[in-house]
Amino acid sequence: MLDLTNRGRMNMAGRLAGRRIIVTGAASGMGRAIARLFAAEGAKLALMDIAPEPLAVIAAETGAEHLAGDVADLAYLDDCVSTFAKALGGLDGLVNAAGILRTAPIEETSPEMWDRIQAVNLFGPAQLCRIALPHLRASGKAAIVNIASLGGIRPNLTMSAYAASKGGLIAFTKVLAAEAAPDVRANALCPGFIASPMTDALYVEDPSRRDVTLARLAMNRAGTVEEIAQSALFLVSHESSFTTGAVLTSDGGSSWH
Ligand SMILES: NC(=O)c1ccc[n+]([C@@H]2O[C@H](COP(=O)([O-])OP(=O)(O)OC[C@H]3O[C@@H](n4cnc5c(N)ncnc54)[C@H](O)[C@@H]3O)[C@@H](O)[C@H]2O)c1
Repeated sequence: MLDLTNRGRMNMAGRLAGRRIIVTGAASGMGRAIARLFAAEGAKLALMDIAPEPLAVIAAETGAEHLAGDVADLAYLDDCVSTFAKALGGLDGLVNAAGILRTAPIEETSPEMWDRIQAVNLFGPAQLCRIALPHLRASGKAAIVNIASLGGIRPNLTMSAYAASKGGLIAFTKVLAAEAAPDVRANALCPGFIASPMTDALYVEDPSRRDVTLARLAMNRAGTVEEIAQSALFLVSHESSFTTGAVLTSDGGSSWH
């Protein structure tokens, strides 16, 4: 079986040896898989999430720094960046994986729901990039990965607020890439349908809807969080050293199928 953790072929140093990287949304799903893979590749991690207990568990597992809080809270973001940069001696990478999905037709998308989705999925990641940027520039070889979504490129019904937030994050990342070059690369990673607690919640009421979603994928299966972690690893590592401002879809073919 394919060893997606990379432990099987990891050399002693690892592909992220000594790289100091913040990962948000690290308590679940993709963020947790990214933390595990990056730790296996030798990164020194600082983990963020709004859920303190599972955050503490993954931090203990990966030997990471961690602080729990809301990515929409500027004071929390300031505190995290200054605490982590001090604890790790600088920053070489940032992965914005925290996000929320709420669905409703446009007429039922309240202003409060709209604002919260923009706050968590767009304002928070963009502000964290801004606050971390001086530390990342000082690294001289840093990389940012903003986890957007295929929903920001090929939006779905009932996801107007989510699509707007992720489309906004893609556009923001391109400007960031231009302004932060050449010291810092920034790329948007757009997963398609990935099995995680976020998508599990979508099909609780009507599990047959999952088959409709799967039929849109050329590969006819959901992706795994470990597969997305591999894409994030590529974008953070030196292997993508000439890639910036890119939008990488990891979607099993659903963007064109
Ligand atoms: N699962 C998919 O199919 C899919 C597809 C495309 C994009 N995405 C995006 O990928 C990212 C990860 O999604 P996932 O599937 O792993 O979801 P998930 O629900 O398993 O994980 C999201 C994590 O973000 C944290 N979080 C939520 N709100 C937060 C806040 N305000 N502050 C700090 N942390 C917060 C949660 O506690 C959770 O640990 C999200 O940005 C999501 O929008 C997911």
